Amino acid sequence: MQRRRQSAVVAGVIAAVVFAVLAVALPWHGHSKRKGTGTDPLAGVTLREQAATRDIAIGVGANSQRLLDPRYQQLIGSNFNSITDTNAFKWDVTEPRPGEFNFTAADRVVSVAERYHLRVRGHTLIWHNQNPSWLTQGHWTKAALKAVMKRHIMSVVGRYRGLVAQWDVVNEALTTAKPSGRYVLRSDLWEKVIGPEYVADAFIWAHEADPSAQLFYNDYGAEAPSRRFDAEYRMVARLKAAGVPINGVGLQMHRPVPKAPPYYPTKAQVSTVLRQFADIGVHTEITEMDQPLPLPPQPAQLGLQASLFEQMTAACLSVQLCGGVTIWGADDSDRYPVLIKRDLGAATLFTTSGQPKLAYRGVLAALIKAPGPLAQARGEPQTVP
Ligand code: G3I
Repeated sequence: MQRRRQSAVVAGVIAAVVFAVLAVALPWHGHSKRKGTGTDPLAGVTLREQAATRDIAIGVGANSQRLLDPRYQQLIGSNFNSITDTNAFKWDVTEPRPGEFNFTAADRVVSVAERYHLRVRGHTLIWHNQNPSWLTQGHWTKAALKAVMKRHIMSVVGRYRGLVAQWDVVNEALTTAKPSGRYVLRSDLWEKVIGPEYVADAFIWAHEADPSAQLFYNDYGAEAPSRRFDAEYRMVARLKAAGVPINGVGLQMHRPVPKAPPYYPTKAQVSTVLRQFADIGVHTEITEMDQPLPLPPQPAQLGLQASLFEQMTAACLSVQLCGGVTIWGADDSDRYPVLIKRDLGAATLFTTSGQPKLAYRGVLAALIKAPGPLAQARGEPQTVP
């Protein structure tokens, strides 16, 4: 990501002062399409512009079907600088039959990303969910399943060599063992047939297919100091020490908005885990942040949601190796089955009609308020300009 230090400092300071005044003096009328509408000179300031000044990716989990709609593309392309598709790169979509690949949806994501100069996160290569039945119902020897896994990874990652900046190579591999409660590798197809080595294999093959891509382990529930974080940290540190090409960890950050404190995880807790990974050279991303609300959302809940979005974004901005924040949905119409089942929604930064919410203001506020010059904001050692 291009660094713009001097202009960043000037832009950041001006915007912070103006925004701080406006935030107090004027009610937030939301995002205007025209810049500088008199009463609100910040109108038209987009996340994308501010993200560039902070050298951070601010992205969305998109729906490749909705990408057929130019308005949906425009909403993403004008406000964000990164895109993940919530399904297009998953095994059940890309290899529905053995050796037969379908890249229609993934190609669409990459094409839109090229049109709007968006960074692409590929989600996900190896997971226990959304696998085709030929895979999950097959009777596999270890050698045969390794060969199938290698072919899949080499084919998918190889096709997007140089086009997909980051891959969630392995997703949600940890779970709690019963009755001990210890965190262990999930006993899924991969672990049962290949054994624990499948995790390292996946990263090695992904790196072989595209040495330029950053390779991530992605999971939920490790966003704050906890036993689950400890288990994930140990696994990642062990892989790294063994020379496995793992570059980063994705914290999914799916967090319902509680009705009352404590608002878990707090900014300090998230900063702590991000910094612990950074201390061993592991990059991080907040990869699937959303804050589902009971529908219809109440004003107080929307206000709290905005504050929590701001705090989580600020946590990432406070650690140099945290490279980005992705919201799991471009607007509130992007609801996934779990939310629909629980009658939850309004989890993103834009309304179903594409209007920015207070949550949009929360992420923007974190970007504008990120302290001082880029170096200080990102925790880099101070260099004399
Ligand atoms: O594409 C088929 C369609 O052809 C079919 O008619 C329809 C009805 O069966 O299903 C469609 O597939 C659905 C798919 O989303 C695409 O819309 C699946 O049923 C549905 O299960 C799938 O849900 C996805 C979910 O992962 C699956 O676990 C969500 O969109 C996606 O947002 C969600 O994302 C996950 C991350 O990958 C991992 N972290 C948690 C996150 C939220 O659950």
